[in-house]
Amino acid sequence: MRSTFALFASLFAPALASPLICRSHTQPNPITEDYPKDVTGVINGTTAIVPIPYAVARSIVPSKYPILTAAYEQVFPTLGDGLYPAVLEAVQDHDVGLPPFKIPDFTRVALKFPFVDRLNDGASAFKYTPPQLVSATNLIALLGSTIYGDTVAGTFAPPCDAYASSGPSETYMRAYTFAESLLPNAKPVADMSFRTAASIPYTIDAFINVLNQPLFGDGIPLCDNYITLFNATVTTAKYAPVPVEGTLVVRPPLYPNEETFGHVYGFRMANAFVERNGVICESLKGYSRRRC
Ligand SMILES: *[C@@H]1O[C@H](CO)[C@@H](O)[C@H](O)[C@H]1NC(C)=O
Ligand SMILES: *[C@@H]1O[C@H](CO)[C@@H](O)[C@H](O)[C@H]1NC(C)=O
Repeated sequence: MRSTFALFASLFAPALASPLICRSHTQPNPITEDYPKDVTGVINGTTAIVPIPYAVARSIVPSKYPILTAAYEQVFPTLGDGLYPAVLEAVQDHDVGLPPFKIPDFTRVALKFPFVDRLNDGASAFKYTPPQLVSATNLIALLGSTIYGDTVAGTFAPPCDAYASSGPSETYMRAYTFAESLLPNAKPVADMSFRTAASIPYTIDAFINVLNQPLFGDGIPLCDNYITLFNATVTTAKYAPVPVEGTLVVRPPLYPNEETFGHVYGFRMANAFVERNGVICESLKGYSRRRC
C-alpha cells in the first residue's frame, strides 16, 4: 500500500520539491572508474547507533530470523543491558550509477537492524531493513528500495543535502512522509540534531561492520550486497569521519511509537559504496568484509 503510494507520489512531487534547483554539496563519486561493472556512489550524512530495547528490535525483525545477540554484544560492548544497536542511516545518495548512467541524488532515512541471522546458520550477520523513507522525487530510488521492502516517499529538510548547520559544530535533519508534508504544521517522522563530540563509545570498526552487512527486507527473497568503503578520498584526510553525539525523535512508520533518544552516538561522514543488487542471500554465507 505504502509502496504504491510512494510511486504515485513520485509522479507529482517534482513540481513541489523543485529538484531542479537542488545542488548537493557532496563531492563527486571517486570510484566510478574503479568499478565499471557495478553500481557505485557516495553516501554522505549521519550514521549513528540508536540503543533500543531488544524487545522492540525482536518485534520488528521477522520472528523466523534469530538475532545474533552475542555478536552484537562483542562489537558494541558498551551498550546497556537489554539494549540492541539499531542503525540510524540519514544520508544523501550522491552521484550514483552504473557507468555511463547516473541517477539523480536522493535522500533516505531509516533505522536498520543489523546482526540478523537471515540464513539461520548461527553466524552470518545480515541487516534487516524495515520501512525506509526515500526522496519522493526519485522514482528509480523508490523502486529500488521498494523491491527489498516497505518504502515510504519522503521529503527532507534540508532538501538537497543530508544535513545542514544549526549552530557551532551542530547539524540538523528532519524527514517527513511526503503525504504529511502536504499538511500545514507537518510533524517530522525523524527529527535529529547532532553535535561534534570529542569521543564516542563505539569504534569506527563497529560502523565498518554494520555498514557492510548484506541487506534484506520482507520484499523479494534476495539480498543487497552493499559495500561501504572507508578508504576512498571522501572518507579520508580532510573528510575523515567526525564523531558526533545527538538526539533523535522518531515516529511511525520509522519506529513503532513516538520516541526520543538522547545520547545517540555516531559519525558524520561520507563514504563511497559499491552495490550489488539481487544477490542470492545464501551466497553471502559467512560474508565478512575486508578491512579498508
Ligand atoms: C557532506 O555534506 C556536507 C553537507 O552538505 C558537506 O559540507 C560536506 O563537504 C560533504 N562531504 C563530502 C565528502 O562531500
Ligand atoms: C579500498 O578498499 C577496497 C575493499 O577493501 C579495495 O578493494 C580497494 O582496492 C581499496 N582502495 C584503495 C584506494 O585502497
